[in-house]
Amino acid sequence: MSTETLIGKVQSVDTGNISVKVDNEELLNSVQVNQIVQIRSTKTGEKIIGLISKIMRKAISDKIDESSEPDFVVENLIKVNLVGTLLEKTGLDKNVFKRTLNTVPSINADCFLLQGEDLSRFMNIISSNSENPLKIGKYTISEMSDANLDGNKFFQRHAVIVGGTGSGKSWTVANILEKAASLKSINSLVFDLHGEYKPLKDLPNTTLLKIAGPSDKPSDDNIIFFPYWLLSYEEIEALLLDRSDSNAPNQSRTLFDLIIKHKKEILETENKQDILDNFTVESPIPYKLSDVLSALEEKDTEMVEGARAQKQGPLHGKLTRFIQRLKSKQADKRLNFIFNADKELLDFDWFVSLINRLLDFGNEKGLKIIDFSEVPSDILPLITGLIGRLIFSIQQWMEDDKRHPIALFCDEAHLYLPANVKGGMEEKGLQSFERIAKEGRKYGISLVVISQRPSDVNKTILSQCGNFIAMRLTNPDDQNVIKRLFPDNLGDFSELLPILDIGEALIVGDASLLPSRVKIDKPKIQPSSATINFWDEWNKEKSEKGIEQAVQALRKQQK
Ligand SMILES: Nc1ncnc2c1ncn2[C@@H]1O[C@H](COP(=O)(O)OP(=O)(O)OP(=O)(O)O)[C@@H](O)[C@H]1O
Ligand SMILES: [Mg+2]
Repeated sequence: MSTETLIGKVQSVDTGNISVKVDNEELLNSVQVNQIVQIRSTKTGEKIIGLISKIMRKAISDKIDESSEPDFVVENLIKVNLVGTLLEKTGLDKNVFKRTLNTVPSINADCFLLQGEDLSRFMNIISSNSENPLKIGKYTISEMSDANLDGNKFFQRHAVIVGGTGSGKSWTVANILEKAASLKSINSLVFDLHGEYKPLKDLPNTTLLKIAGPSDKPSDDNIIFFPYWLLSYEEIEALLLDRSDSNAPNQSRTLFDLIIKHKKEILETENKQDILDNFTVESPIPYKLSDVLSALEEKDTEMVEGARAQKQGPLHGKLTRFIQRLKSKQADKRLNFIFNADKELLDFDWFVSLINRLLDFGNEKGLKIIDFSEVPSDILPLITGLIGRLIFSIQQWMEDDKRHPIALFCDEAHLYLPANVKGGMEEKGLQSFERIAKEGRKYGISLVVISQRPSDVNKTILSQCGNFIAMRLTNPDDQNVIKRLFPDNLGDFSELLPILDIGEALIVGDASLLPSRVKIDKPKIQPSSATINFWDEWNKEKSEKGIEQAVQALRKQQK
C-alpha cells in the first residue's frame, strides 16, 4: 500500500526552488520543514526530490475590478528546495538518486509528501546509493535508515564539524575515527588538545603520541619533540625576537648568519656534499644551539683594534637583550619540547624518525592521536603550524605514486586557526594551514576542522571546506558563519541549528547525497569528554580527595 500523500500542485518555479499550493488546510498543519517531497517530472521514470523549506499562509486580495469591495482569500503555500532526481532505472541499476536536476517541475505538477514506508524506502535508497559508505548515524526523519557519507568525498574537500560546547562534536569525531581505523592503511593525525581521545587507543591501527611535557625525555618513542632546528627562520624570529627592540634588525641578521654557518658545519662533518650545495636557513638540519649562543655572546662582547686603542666591536652590546631572551626561553621548562638539548635530537637521521612517527601507516600505526595537553597555549599555533608545514612539505616532495593520503583532525581549531591573528607566531602557524586548505587536495592532505566557535575560526580555511557537520549552535554569530557557508538554495535549513538535540547534526556537502538532519551514532569507545553531572556528584557520599595529588602534579608539571 502506498503512503504517498498528495499535498498540492506546483504554483511557481524558480531554478532550484518551487512553491506548491496546498488546498487541504489540514494537510498544511501536518507538514514540517525539512520533510521530503516528490514531484512528478515531465520525463517518465524520473521523480524530482525536494526538501520543504518554508510553510506559509498568505492572505491575498481577490479584487476583481475597481468598484467591487476587496475580498480576501487565504492561500496556503509551501516552499521547496529541489535537491535531486530519483531515477527508476539507469543502466542496470534500479532506483538511483542523483544530485542533479535534469528537468524542473512544470506548473501544476503533483507534489507528494514522502511518509511512512515510502520515506523509509527512499531513505534506504539514499543509504545504499552512497559510495564508500562512512556510516555516521541515522536520519532523524526516518530512524531505521542509515545515514552514510561518502568516505572519499568527505576527506577530498575538507570537512568542518561545529557545534556549541557539549553538542557532541568529540563524539562525532570518535565515531568517524572508529570507522576509519578499521581500514588497514588509515593515515590520520588527531590534534587532541585536552587528551580526551586517549581511550581511543584501543581502536585497531591506533597509536598515542604526546608532545613532550616539561619532564619528558627523547628516549621515549611515543613522545614527540620539535627541536628548535626544525623551526623556519620566521618561526624562530616569532619565538625569539622582540620587534620593538631598536637592535632587532642586527639581532635578526646575526642569528641568520650564525644558523647558516652552523648548519653548514654539520653538513661538512656529516659529509653531505649534495645537500651542502643547496641548503638554506630553512632546511631541517640540526645544529647546536649552545654553539650559536656562545658565538652570539662573543660578538656581544667583542673588542676590536682601533686606530689608537681597542674599541668596541660592531655588535658590542647590541645582542645582550636577545641573548637574555634566548636564555630565558631555553630555561623555560614548558618549552622542553623545543629546547631539550639531548644528543639524540641532534642526530642527523633523527628527522626521519620524527616524520615516520607522524606519517607512518600500517604496522598498527595509521591513526595517530597526538596529545597536546601539556603544550603552553601561547606556543600552540607555532607547533600545530610546524606539524602542518612538515606534513605538507613531505607530501609535496614525495613521489606521486608513493604518496599516501593523510587527514588532519584539528580539534578546538579556534585556538590555533583563529579568525583574527595577533601577528607573529599565530600568523606563521596559520599560513601552513591556509596552504593545506587551498592546495592540500592535490597532495592528498585533508583537514577536518572542529570547533565550538566557528565565528572565531579562520575564514579562508572554512571557505575551502566542502563538507559540514553542524551540531547545535545557539550563538547568532556562529550560526551566521555556518549559514553563509551552506549552499544558497538550502534556504531556511540552517534555522534548525539552535533546536538540534545533543548528538544531532545537519549534514550538508559533497559527501552527503541529501542535506540531512542526522542522529549521530554513539561511538563504541567514547572520548573522555563526559559532561559532569553536578547534582548527582554532589549528592554522593565522597571521601577520596585528589587535592594533594593535583598540587603535586602542578608542581612537577607531570600527571
Ligand atoms: N551522538 C550522541 N549520542 C548521545 N549522546 C551524545 C552524543 N554525542 C554527545 N553526547 C553527549 O554529550 C556529551 C558531550 O559531547 P562531546 O564531548 O562530544 O561535546 P563537544 O561538542 O565535543 O563539546 P566541547 O566543545 O566542549 O568539546 C557526551 O559526554 C555525551 O553524554
Ligand atoms: Mg570536544
